[in-house]
Amino acid sequence: MCGIVGYIGTKKAAPILIDGLLKLEYRGYDSAGISTIENNCLSLLKDKGRVKNILNLSNFDTLSGTIGIAHTRWATHGKPSKENSHPHFDNSSTFSVVHNGIIENYNELKNFLIDNGYSFVSQTDTEVIPNLIHYYYSSTANKDFLQSVKMACSDLHGSFAIEVICKDFPDNIIVAKKDSPLVIGKGEHENYIASDIPAVLKYTKNFYFLQDNEFALLSENSITFFDNNLNEISKDIKTIDWDENSADKNGYEDYMLKEIYEQPDSIRKTINSRLLDNGTFDFTDLNISKNYLSSINKIYIVACGTAMHAGLSVKNTIEKLCKINTEVDIASEFRYRSPLIDKNTLCIFVSQSGETADTLAALKLCKEHSAKTIAITNVLGSSITREADYSILTYAGPEIAVASTKAYTAQVTLLSMLATYFADVLNRCDKDIVIDLRHDIVSLPAKLEQTLNSCNSIKDFALRVYNEHDIFFLGRGIDYSIALEGSLKLKEISYIHSDAYAAGELKHGPIALIEDNTTVITILTDSNLVKKSISNTQEVITRGAKTLIITNQSLPNYGFDTIITIPEISEYISPVLAIVPLQLLSYFISKEKGLDVDKPRNLAKSVTVE
Ligand code: AGP
Repeated sequence: MCGIVGYIGTKKAAPILIDGLLKLEYRGYDSAGISTIENNCLSLLKDKGRVKNILNLSNFDTLSGTIGIAHTRWATHGKPSKENSHPHFDNSSTFSVVHNGIIENYNELKNFLIDNGYSFVSQTDTEVIPNLIHYYYSSTANKDFLQSVKMACSDLHGSFAIEVICKDFPDNIIVAKKDSPLVIGKGEHENYIASDIPAVLKYTKNFYFLQDNEFALLSENSITFFDNNLNEISKDIKTIDWDENSADKNGYEDYMLKEIYEQPDSIRKTINSRLLDNGTFDFTDLNISKNYLSSINKIYIVACGTAMHAGLSVKNTIEKLCKINTEVDIASEFRYRSPLIDKNTLCIFVSQSGETADTLAALKLCKEHSAKTIAITNVLGSSITREADYSILTYAGPEIAVASTKAYTAQVTLLSMLATYFADVLNRCDKDIVIDLRHDIVSLPAKLEQTLNSCNSIKDFALRVYNEHDIFFLGRGIDYSIALEGSLKLKEISYIHSDAYAAGELKHGPIALIEDNTTVITILTDSNLVKKSISNTQEVITRGAKTLIITNQSLPNYGFDTIITIPEISEYISPVLAIVPLQLLSYFISKEKGLDVDKPRNLAKSVTVE
């Protein structure tokens, strides 16, 4: 949540900062602001609303400084307003700060500062930071910028990634982080800072990843890193192989549509990252022996939102192929429910961003209980990858739209590939099942192309239902996990109320909601359960529902309203195909309602607060 950008170099900072913010708007878009230094004075432009509002301010072009910091906000403390927008100055306008995270003890710090003569203009937690830095700066004889930032950070409880500039040091930016993401991009005679790589990918592919409780002092030609005691430390630079165009719309009207259509490619890359010549998948880097896997009493898959749905879709696969009890947990619940974890528990954390606070906290909990931890993320160097014992990357490329699409299909694919690897190591099930599943996984990119080409009627259906208030999704077995994800997509970007039910549960209550013309969407890909789900769908048709069916079976028409047929594939991996028409349905409904598909209200792409 919240995006921060920084620049120091030889070029005018303001346009670079705005460009970066526009790429980070998926992290929050309540308000935005930038601060630069001109003639040893801090400038400030900020306002509520979108980043483009800053560009339209009359004095934007007067910002000539070659150093600056910037912020796009997802409000936590204080409503979206100009006063609450970042950057925030201290009372003497010596320091300017942008912050991503939450300062949990800001009230105590604020009272302390008020007692020491400081006053506040915003309701934010952030405003304590510049004032605290100033407090230490003015109380030390030698006015040490870095030392003052460090002392202020030592007082902060909670999470933060901050950038600080000071009018007395117009050639430096200082950054610090704890539990919030921050990357530093290295250029030629210029350096960049961002919450996330895509913001500055067009300028550099070389990045440093700051760890918690570390500091960096940036100038035009240098980046110096310090530990928590301000001892100088060295860091390795990492080169990111993402294509800079992958962070642009590339001719598509919206990022979400582009990302839906990128799925064949992202799945191909994810498969190829592990595919061996003999057709199996290589996960030897996880150091998982037969002895170890045989000793596992339970696998937990822990994640949030869409990533959790990806986990749900492979629970049955792992249980059937590996005969290991597998539980899928919502990270925010898992961390507080005292789960039974020990050294014989394998914990897998799934996260597109690799920064989700609840998932990260659940991971730390599992490590405290000596469990082996594996992270599946889309972002190299993200917090979750750094914390886990082992990391596996999905190769979806940057996902910018808030509603996750290509990351989900890449997660399901990668988890299924991992399940076949575990099955090979354990050898507890019929080998042919594993071989067939591997074939089906490898066939996914081509079948995704076909699926995308066979979804024409989904737009017509969207145009018929976009004004509805409730839409229900049904499925059984793996189709229930697809129903959950389809329903989440619809809620997120169309604002239509929607629920997903295990179809067999309908008659235990939810069927009371069905009336004449209610829209019900049933997913029918789990061959063992198709007949059962058809019966459940008949029950709603009898009560007046109009139905959309997503299926890979050839079915007689049982009175369904619309049928979308996707290519045949084993039910173990069918979510990768079956979700596509549902992603498109949500997209077309959202467009028809004139909504912002990529930046739905109240949401942010990566949820780095609890
Ligand atoms: C997906 O469309 C959502 N925006 C959201 O549920 C997301 O999947 C969730 O916040 C988890 O994010 P992560 O994958 O980055 O951890």
